[in-house]
Amino acid sequence: MTDTAKLQTPTKDVEYPVMSGTVGPQVVDIRKLYAQTGMFTYDPGFTSTASCESTLTYIDGDEGVLLHRGYPIGQLAEQSSFMETAYLLLNGELPDQGELDKFVYTISRHTMLHEQLATFYRGFRRDAHPMAIMCGVVGALSAFYHDSTDITDPKHRLIASHRLIAKMPTIAAMAYKYSVGQPFMYPKNELSYTGNFLQMTFGVPAEEYVVNPVVEKALDRIFILHADHEQNASTSTVRLAGSSGANPFACIAAGIACLWGPAHGGANEAALNMLREIGRPDRIPEYIARAKNKDDPFRLMGFGHRVYKNYDPRATVMQKTVREVFEALNVDDPVFEVALQLEEMALNDDYFIEKKLFPNVDFYSGVILSAIGFPTTMFTALFALARTVGWVAQWNEMIADPDQKIGRPRQLYTGPTQRDYVPLNQR
Ligand code: SDX
Repeated sequence: MTDTAKLQTPTKDVEYPVMSGTVGPQVVDIRKLYAQTGMFTYDPGFTSTASCESTLTYIDGDEGVLLHRGYPIGQLAEQSSFMETAYLLLNGELPDQGELDKFVYTISRHTMLHEQLATFYRGFRRDAHPMAIMCGVVGALSAFYHDSTDITDPKHRLIASHRLIAKMPTIAAMAYKYSVGQPFMYPKNELSYTGNFLQMTFGVPAEEYVVNPVVEKALDRIFILHADHEQNASTSTVRLAGSSGANPFACIAAGIACLWGPAHGGANEAALNMLREIGRPDRIPEYIARAKNKDDPFRLMGFGHRVYKNYDPRATVMQKTVREVFEALNVDDPVFEVALQLEEMALNDDYFIEKKLFPNVDFYSGVILSAIGFPTTMFTALFALARTVGWVAQWNEMIADPDQKIGRPRQLYTGPTQRDYVPLNQR
C-alpha cells in the first residue's frame, strides 16, 4: 500500500504518491500537479525540494551525518584516500587492491594537459583570480577532447570523467604557478594524486621537490572532505547544465563558476580573510555583534549551512587536521587561536544557538591551507579540484537516470499583464 499526500486546492482536491528512500525524508511525487491543477509549487532556493533521486551521498543535517555510498565521512577521512573515495563515489563500492591500483594508474595517465592549453594561461593577467582561470581553462577542455564529448557513449563518459578528475590538479597548480611567475611543472606519475599536486604547485625545475608526508596526508584528507555533498548549489548547477546534453567539460566549468560564490565554495577564502581581519581574540565580540546586526550585511564566513543544523561533521575532522599540520610544520599563527575562540564564543551565543549556526567545512580549511603555503585565492580552486569527483559522479548518475529530462523550472509571475506598445512620440 503506497502512502499518499492529499492536497486541497481552490479548484480541486488531488492526491499524490509518497515515495520513500532507504533513509531520510520521504518525498511527495508532485510531477502531475501542474497538469491536474494548473498550479506550481513555490520553493525559492529549493529548501523543500528533492530535485532527483541519488545513491551517492546522504546528509542528515540534524544529526550531523554525512555518508558517501553509506560510509561515514569520518571513517573515510581517517582510513581512506582521496583516490579510493573517488572510486567509491564513481562505482558505488570500495575497490579491492587491484581495482584501486588500476584506477590510480588510469587517473595518473591523464594528468598532463594538451600543450596548447598552456598558452591559455598567458592570455590572463598575472593577478587573475585562480577561479577565473579554472572556469576558462576547464570550459576550454571541450575544444581539445572531441573524442570524449558524446554523452550518449558510455566510453566517452568514462574517459571524460577520468580526464576531468586527473587534470584538475594540473590546471589548479598551473593557475598558481602563473600567478607567482614561476614555470609550470609537469606531473610526476610516480607520486600520489595529492603528492603530485603538491609537486606541481610548490616544486621548481631548479631542484627536486620532496613531498612532506604529513602535508600530503592532511591535504588528501581535505580533498576527501570536499569530494561530494548531495545536491548543493554547484552540483545542482552541473546537473542542470548536463540535463541539456552539454558536454561534461562545459558542465564542470559551470559548477566551478557556481562554487566561486562566497555563500558557497568561496566561503573558505572569505573565512580566512575574516579571521585575519579580526586578527586578535579581543576583537571577536565586535564581529559577533556585527554578524547579529540585521542592518549589517556582515556574516560570519564559515558558519551556518542550509542543511546542517547541527555540527558539520567535516568541520570536526578539519579542526583536528589543523592541529596535526601546525605541529608538523611548527606553525605559530594566531589565526588558529582566533578561529578556536570565535567558534567557542559563537557556540555560546544565543543568536547562533537559536539560528543553529555552527562552523561548516569552510571555517577551518583556510587555516590549514594557509599553513601549508597556499594563498587565500587558491582555496576555492582546491575546493573545486576535490569537488570535481562529486560533480563527475553526480553528472554520470544524472545521465544514467531514466527519469532524467531537461531541467526547466517555472515561476510565480508578478510582472505587468498584457498591454499595448506606445509609440515613442506618444510617451
Ligand atoms: C558550503 O549546500 C552545501 O552542501 C554547501 C557545502 C558543500 O559542501 O557543497 O556544504 C559548502 O557552501 C558551506 C557554506 C559556506 N558558506 C558560508 O560559510 C557563508 C556564511 N553562511 C551563510 O551565508 C549561510 O549560512 C548559508 C548560505 C551557508 C546558508 O544560508 P541559508 O540556509 O539560506 O540560511 P539563511 O541565509 O536563511 O540564514 C538563516 C538565518 C538568517 O537570519 P534570519 O533572516 O532568519 O533572521 O541565519 C542567519 C541569517 O541572517 N545566518 C547567519 C549566518 N548564516 C545564516 N548570521 C550570521 N552569520 C552567518 N554565517
